Amino acid sequence: MTGDGLFPFTDEHEMIRQAARDFAQKEIAPIAAEFDESGEFPSATVRKMGEMGLMGIEVPEEYGGAGMDTLAYVLALEEICKADASHGTIMSVNNSLFCFGILKFGTEMQKQKYLRGVASGQHVGAYSLTEPMSGSDAGTMRSRAVRDGDEYILNGRKSWVTSGPVAEYIVVFTMTAPEKKHRGITAFIIEAGKPGFSVGTKSSKMNIRASATSEILFEDYRVPAENRLGEEGDGFKIAMTVLDAGRIGIASQALGIAEAAYEASLEYARQREAFGQKIGEFQGISFQLADMKTRIEAARLLVYHAALAKERSKKTGGRFTLEASMAKLFASETAMFVAHAAVQIHGGMGYSKELPIERYFRDAKITEIYEGTSEIQRLVISRMETGLR
Ligand code: CAA
Repeated sequence: MTGDGLFPFTDEHEMIRQAARDFAQKEIAPIAAEFDESGEFPSATVRKMGEMGLMGIEVPEEYGGAGMDTLAYVLALEEICKADASHGTIMSVNNSLFCFGILKFGTEMQKQKYLRGVASGQHVGAYSLTEPMSGSDAGTMRSRAVRDGDEYILNGRKSWVTSGPVAEYIVVFTMTAPEKKHRGITAFIIEAGKPGFSVGTKSSKMNIRASATSEILFEDYRVPAENRLGEEGDGFKIAMTVLDAGRIGIASQALGIAEAAYEASLEYARQREAFGQKIGEFQGISFQLADMKTRIEAARLLVYHAALAKERSKKTGGRFTLEASMAKLFASETAMFVAHAAVQIHGGMGYSKELPIERYFRDAKITEIYEGTSEIQRLVISRMETGLR
């Protein structure tokens, strides 16, 4: 890899990268196609990732995590996603969408109670913002929570919840004061399996098929007020802050997918012969490789830059929205560009299930959609730049 000289990598970073790479290549890559086909949740490997500290990389050791920094997180996630984007999705949701939010906004009780299990991979965490009628326009949700003494009563339907069918704990965003619009949204930590909670329709998906996705339903579900994350009305800002962190994770995922597709293409171009020469000797192929490599390295710079911006924000309290959105936008479009070229370079073999190339192509697509589409990233970046709305 390149870019090392530009970033403050330590021996610890190299260690986690190497450990994640070894594990991903030995234990995840060989089962990725099978789990993609079956759509089964890879519980055994996810548990092992937890034991390695990969499920709560930035969570302090006192709460069951690895106590490392954001750079360590993106390096490890990139390696996991090079082997399998589905494992990467599960890892990124646990780390960024669940643990980060509780670490940043949770009370001591919430940290003690909910972080340890998820950060150590014994439990799966999830994040639930989207609803059937509220996707990109996240402030318009219809689910409701009404205060009742020391509890809130939740009703509503949330959709596209990554790890929804298997998560024990979910950070859920819902309206407590609809008249206040986005300022009426409140976040809660929900325990699945309690009365009033159920898993709805499981989503059948084009890709990241081994990461379980579903609707979740609340019917008079009672959540104690002590499980409220932040204050009433803080939910939208919490959701957005957490998504800023999540977007860096998805950018790392896109980088990992792009690297896997590129490395396979490079190898194929060096070996495969047509018309009496290696196909990599044709300018049509070699120039594609040059573009793939260049975009990947540019994406890498943005991803690591965003990781450093997030790390800095832990001290300054400032936002890293711009860096996260730029990294996600560019890395996800790079993944799609590279995976598309990889299928083309491999020809029929790129289209075949015999090789992982078609899976990289399918997996790349989601990175342009979830945790904010490319259009939403452009909106975020341009609003921050112009100051206009
Ligand atoms: N950090 C902190 N605060 C933020 C913020 C951020 N990144 N972005 C906005 N805010 C604040 C604003 O400052 C504003 O505050 P005030 O109320 O004090 O004025 C408030 O939030 C509202 O901001 P906007 O007016 O900009 O809100 P908007 O309605 O125009 O929406 C948006 C902005 C960027 C479009 C936002 O709705 C968005 O990101 N949409 C995409 C949602 C998304 O990514 N969904 C994916 C869900 S997760 C998923 O994919 C599933 C999974 O499990 C992986």
